[in-house]
Amino acid sequence: MLEKITDRIYYMLPSNETGRPLIGLVIGDNYCLVVDSGNSPKHANEFKLEIEKMNLPPVKYLVLTHHHCDHTFGLNEWDVVSIANQKTSDYINVYRDIKYDNHSLELAKEMGILNDFLVGSIKDEIPDREKFSPKNVDISFEGQLKIDLGGITCELRQIVSPHTDDSTILYIPEEKTLFLGDCVYGQRIDGYNHFDDKLMFPMIQILEEYESEYYVCSHEPVCSKDEIVDFWEQVNIGFVIANKCSSLEEGLVEYKNQFDKEPTNNAVFFMKSFGLR
Ligand SMILES: [Fe+2]
Repeated sequence: MLEKITDRIYYMLPSNETGRPLIGLVIGDNYCLVVDSGNSPKHANEFKLEIEKMNLPPVKYLVLTHHHCDHTFGLNEWDVVSIANQKTSDYINVYRDIKYDNHSLELAKEMGILNDFLVGSIKDEIPDREKFSPKNVDISFEGQLKIDLGGITCELRQIVSPHTDDSTILYIPEEKTLFLGDCVYGQRIDGYNHFDDKLMFPMIQILEEYESEYYVCSHEPVCSKDEIVDFWEQVNIGFVIANKCSSLEEGLVEYKNQFDKEPTNNAVFFMKSFGLR
């Protein structure tokens, strides 16, 4: 069963065990739109089975939030119009140029095309991949694109995020819902999460332009406005302390002095994400 956000918006929960991100569904009067394709044919088909039970208008569009294969490798299962920003399409064409046997996956990792997480996800979720190759995207856009589903609109916007340079966010104004993909997550570098402040803070400014009540990040259940505002605050605190201190030990003391309490796991995570060790 899918999780309901509003009468018009549903999603399939992500999984920490398999690394599956969520898949979103926007329901218009005339057509439906799917957000991200699933991480594998298996994932896509499980989602398709769920929407078949719901007696909905046909799925006409599928929007990819970015190129990472845990969001795009279910694409071959969808007989719909796929849409992504131009950079995402270009990255998927790179995925089309490589092979997916174990040896080739290791080579792709060495070349920086895939990372440990993505290789693990491919091995676990696509066991039969001798002939696997993702299909290309049907429509590529630059900047912004609006899609009318009948009584409901999806506004797509290409942004640069601390996660990747090809993020697309989707805003559904009628439902005050913003799909963020992975854009609020950082990048894994040398075993640590890393936030680039020069990308993070301009992105937060863009996201704050939207009048939204529901924030849909791909690897967790939907967040409320209060939760996302708290997230921005934690990011800011982590950044300020990381700039003031030269080690994590110093940062922990600074946090205790400022807030008169022990740092939470989240606070430690944000300090580390801005470079404290
Ligand atoms: Fe990602």
